[in-house]
Amino acid sequence: MIVSATRSPEELAAAAREFLTAHTPDSAASSESVGTWLAPGRVNLIGDHVDYAFGVCLPFATTMATAVAARKRDDGVLRMLSQSPNGELLDASVPLADLDAAVNAADAQPGILPDWRGYIAGTVHALGAGGMDLAVVSDVPLGSGLSSSAALECAVGVAARDLYELGTSDEDLIAATMRAENFYVGANTGGLDQNAVVRGRAGFALALDFLEDTHEQVPCGLEGYTLLVVDSRVEHSHATGEYSSRRGLIDATAAALSCTFRENDIVERAVTWATDHPEDALGNDPEVVRRRVRHVHSETARTIEAVEALKAGDIEHFGRLMNDSHASLRDDYEIVPDALETAVRAARAAGAVGARITGGGFGGSTIALCPADRAEAIATTIIEATDKGGFPTPAIYATSAQDGARKV
Ligand code: GLA
Repeated sequence: MIVSATRSPEELAAAAREFLTAHTPDSAASSESVGTWLAPGRVNLIGDHVDYAFGVCLPFATTMATAVAARKRDDGVLRMLSQSPNGELLDASVPLADLDAAVNAADAQPGILPDWRGYIAGTVHALGAGGMDLAVVSDVPLGSGLSSSAALECAVGVAARDLYELGTSDEDLIAATMRAENFYVGANTGGLDQNAVVRGRAGFALALDFLEDTHEQVPCGLEGYTLLVVDSRVEHSHATGEYSSRRGLIDATAAALSCTFRENDIVERAVTWATDHPEDALGNDPEVVRRRVRHVHSETARTIEAVEALKAGDIEHFGRLMNDSHASLRDDYEIVPDALETAVRAARAAGAVGARITGGGFGGSTIALCPADRAEAIATTIIEATDKGGFPTPAIYATSAQDGARKV
């Protein structure tokens, strides 16, 4: 019942290489050789909607990954090959000089290439690399809250870094891939995904502190447990709508109160501010502001506690914190649709020690931390429950912490 049919890094790389050579026969005689690179997706174990609010997150890089095959070209053009979710060939060419012009235009606004091309071309351009032929093959489901965008950006990023011998540090690579997403595509997301995808390490989760600007590898073998990822197949998009409205309010609160959301009185201060200055609070009712800020404040405290629980090997405690995080994202941050709530409840009822939504929400995926010998039965129960609720049948993966973006 558990769908674990994701390709190995080598299989993905071989598929990308084949894809590239099949569609660029004109370049077959090129003296430039083709290389292959891979970047994983990510799950966030706990700490959602706090990366843009000086918070703490605990992701790891997944077995589901994206591969890129690439070779240099000397004409400054980026030829990009990919596939749409329904299998159509996507084939686009962008001269990097066009991006120079767009970025340097006096009226340049975020969103200069707001589709799949922006993730690729934005990364290459932000890194200052040159032209390339590039083909993408991915097992990270799109729009599923598992960082398909960061996987794409970071696979392209490591390819460009290696091919052009840029010597870019991981930190600068993360900054460039974030810029691709924030500026070129125009999705105002935080740094959780790119950090997890670049810094991932097999067997470790990554504790990211966005206030202290630190990252720590935390052993996460989860012996005796299986982490299930349940892709609800209810799609989301972060370039529009709800994600930006949640973030907009938190950004406005931070700007008005010069806070870090870790202050003990921050919820009351935010409510007072929203009551006195409704227009600055973007028209949000003070009680809505209370819930949103309470989520951000409590989620960071919970994540700090969860990091300690994981270090101590206290998985039951860790699971309870996952459950509390989910409740906060559902009731205070209001990002959990019914299909995902159904999957979470079913997982817990069948014996998961913790289950929660992961990532940006409004669709996407949930995760369930399961005693290993119960994982199959829990997966079956989730599918029965979502079918009974009339929701799409989820895709379920078993995953574990993997290495980050690299050459294969
Ligand atoms: C998306 C964004 C991240 C983060 C999460 C929620 O994945 O890309 O920056 O905000 O949502 O934790």
